[in-house]
Amino acid sequence: MSPVVLITGTSSGIGLAAAIQAQQAGYRVVATMRDTSRADDRLEGVDVRRLDVTDPESVTSVVESVVRDHGRLDALVNNAGAGHIGTVETDSVENYRKVMEVNYFGVVAMTKAAMPHLRAAGGRVVTVSSVGGVVGQPFNEAYCAAKFAVEGMMESLAPVAAQQGVTVTVVEPGAVASEFVANVGVDRESAIEAAGPYGASLQGYLSRTATAFSGAQTPDEAAATIISALTDEQPPFRLQTSDWARAFVATKLADADGTAVQKLTTGWI
Ligand SMILES: NC(=O)c1ccc[n+]([C@@H]2O[C@H](COP(=O)([O-])OP(=O)(O)OC[C@H]3O[C@@H](n4cnc5c(N)ncnc54)[C@H](OP(=O)(O)O)[C@@H]3O)[C@@H](O)[C@H]2O)c1
Repeated sequence: MSPVVLITGTSSGIGLAAAIQAQQAGYRVVATMRDTSRADDRLEGVDVRRLDVTDPESVTSVVESVVRDHGRLDALVNNAGAGHIGTVETDSVENYRKVMEVNYFGVVAMTKAAMPHLRAAGGRVVTVSSVGGVVGQPFNEAYCAAKFAVEGMMESLAPVAAQQGVTVTVVEPGAVASEFVANVGVDRESAIEAAGPYGASLQGYLSRTATAFSGAQTPDEAAATIISALTDEQPPFRLQTSDWARAFVATKLADADGTAVQKLTTGWI
């Protein structure tokens, strides 16, 4: 019987592409999203269910109903996430908490609910992190903090889960041309104005980001890495989705005192 994968955040971007590719790879796909009326036509024949990863009731009931209806759960793809731009002095603590809720606690809640079933199936947890889960980036304080939390949690969980037969992988995209930037909802001019003393630095950051996104991967390309994390016999713990992402992450991982990263990211602003 074909394996069952539950994917979060499939209304657009990488999650949608992963749902389509997983179905083509022979999985029974449960594609979850906050608003099922937004389901893409290409998800025809896919089991689409409503799920908000920040709603504990929604998380447990969806996982239980998937196992009830499909009889098993072989893989969880934690893909849902949202960016945020700001810096601590001018941002609110409330915003930091919200960014943590979707990007980190959502991942914790999903993984906790899925784990007994993944253990029974000898399954996999694949979590879409970011290069921002390894390298802190200007004006991404809340977002990178949440993605660092995801990586710390998953890196710690990996050996424990492996002893139970469950493989844990994080996928680290760089820039991907999805709805991600639009969903952050930054109006360039008003954000620069509201940034006060940080305005010039933010302007530099936003210009650099626009350049980076002009060479962005497609969601399909990024999703292919998720599929390899699902299907490769023994995927590594950390998988980047492009050569650029691999080189960027490698800078940090070889940078014991932080000098190389500070030099690089200061150059952005
Ligand atoms: N695009 C990039 O450059 C990039 C780079 C590195 C990492 N990533 C990561 O890749 C993942 C996918 O992002 P994307 O690029 O495909 O962006 P996207 O097109 O904005 O997709 C994000 C998805 O997450 C969903 N989502 C947001 N909050 C949710 C919640 N509370 N519960 C359930 N779903 C929720 C969104 O659903 P709604 O439609 O309901 O809002 C949407 O389907 C994210 O984890 C992101 O951090 C993206």
